[in-house]
Amino acid sequence: MKVSYHGHSVVKVETDGKSILFDPFITGNPLTDLTVEDVKPDVILLTHGHNDHVGDTVQLAKKHDALVVTNNELAVYLSWQGLKTHPMHIGGAYQFDFGKVKLTPAFHGTGLETEDKQIIYTGMPAGILFMAEGKTIYHAGDTALFSDMKLIGDRHPIDLAFLPIGDNFTMGPEDAAYAAKLLGAKTVVPIHYNTFPPIKQDPNEFIKLLEAGNGKVLNPGDSIEL
Ligand code: NI
Ligand code: MN
Repeated sequence: MKVSYHGHSVVKVETDGKSILFDPFITGNPLTDLTVEDVKPDVILLTHGHNDHVGDTVQLAKKHDALVVTNNELAVYLSWQGLKTHPMHIGGAYQFDFGKVKLTPAFHGTGLETEDKQIIYTGMPAGILFMAEGKTIYHAGDTALFSDMKLIGDRHPIDLAFLPIGDNFTMGPEDAAYAAKLLGAKTVVPIHYNTFPPIKQDPNEFIKLLEAGNGKVLNPGDSIEL
């Protein structure tokens, strides 16, 4: 399985001929190497309903008939936009033909901002465990550090964890390094930094904070073979 990073919280997994895209924020993402024209997802996994995570979901899902998997409230809202969705919720897992998805807690906000200045409630934010080919990937979404990350790691041996380090909206580098310890992930990749001025961070400084020496900085377009 090929796992690649594409700036902000955008992660792509290619497994069994399927392309699975996490949080496809492409338009307006100054860091991404992807274009809306070139990306062809079969599945879109969304951690939460903020615009920098939902991103180009509606356009991409319509164009490629992609299945959108996310929490119930956001899934229902997106189904009303004509998308094919699979609603889930925190703590629940489901075996799809492309792999298993489980939503985990995340401490964060929620709400999609519309062009006419409304905030639409989009359910609880989540982290996502994705399991395929005997490997487990954890995408933490946007979250604070919380002690139940230990529980997530105990229940699911994690091969690769994507953790936000930007601070301001999520964990900063120190808290993310502590999170990595709680999760016990084999490899840790920082995300959600340098996209906007308030979340400017040096990812290499974060890597140095990891006691287990198991961090890896992925530049947009870089990938890991799992
Ligand atoms: Ni957010
Ligand atoms: Mn965010």
